[in-house]
Amino acid sequence: MSTVQSLWQQRYRQADDYAPALANPVIEALLGHRSVRQYLDTPLPEGTLETLLAAAQSASSSSNLQAWSLLAVQDPARKARLATLANDQQHIRQAPLFLVWLADFSRAQRIADVQGLELEVPALLDSLLVGSLDAALAAQNAVVAAESLGLGTVYIGALRNNLQAVIDELQLPPLVFPVFGLVVGHPDPARPAAIKPRLPQPVVLHCETYTIADDEQQRISGYEALAGAFAREQGQTTPSWSEQVLNRLKSIEALHGRERIAETLRGQKLALR
Ligand SMILES: Cc1cc2nc3c(=O)[nH]c(=O)nc-3n(C[C@H](O)[C@H](O)[C@H](O)COP(=O)(O)O)c2cc1C
Repeated sequence: MSTVQSLWQQRYRQADDYAPALANPVIEALLGHRSVRQYLDTPLPEGTLETLLAAAQSASSSSNLQAWSLLAVQDPARKARLATLANDQQHIRQAPLFLVWLADFSRAQRIADVQGLELEVPALLDSLLVGSLDAALAAQNAVVAAESLGLGTVYIGALRNNLQAVIDELQLPPLVFPVFGLVVGHPDPARPAAIKPRLPQPVVLHCETYTIADDEQQRISGYEALAGAFAREQGQTTPSWSEQVLNRLKSIEALHGRERIAETLRGQKLALR
């Protein structure tokens, strides 16, 4: 079995009917992704931050506004405080680098300030999307670069659980929003992460128009069986995938504070209309 076929198999855990026709080192790197939650405290090689940033800045940017910034946290005390705010996630403390990806219109406003202008557009919801999309595309480029260097990463959406406290900790000015965090470090080889299976392609792919397949629920059940097997292999006892989806989406109690984001965003002068 080729490398890409083996990765494909781990990603979908289905019989060989999805054997990919196309393969190269980039595809292999992408298919081999896994989030890492166990790190060594070994420092990162010199130049890592700058390399990840160059990869990130190479991503596309809406209207080339480059409406995002990167905030790098390495101070152990600040990392620990952010870990506590983000649902007490230990890997934030463990790894040497914590990156906070910011949607950032404050730089544009500073350019406008020189001309005495008050920008109208950053306050719109679409601008929050523009800045957040830019930040996400940039971050994912950094993830791929980090993994290609043998480093591990995990996104931290829980950074939005206590949004105002994070804004205060990082001293973020108006028109700046922390979209998510990203832990970067050397994976602990004693506790390696595995490739997590994904939904079968026919459940995700629509051709020409949005068409719900007759066997969608059956295929989802099939996926749950393999996702359950994966969890057991990892020593986890988790509810089924559908249960996890419902638990996360059925009530705002599952949001751990994120339901207050709209209010905090207004304080940052974002998403006003
Ligand atoms: C925007 C975003 C936020 C996330 N937030 C967290 C988080 O706070 N903590 C965590 O352990 N994983 C977090 N994750 C990682 C997901 O749980 C993970 O990507 C998903 O379970 C699939 O696993 P994989 O990345 O290993 O394939 C986040 C992922 C994304 C894309």
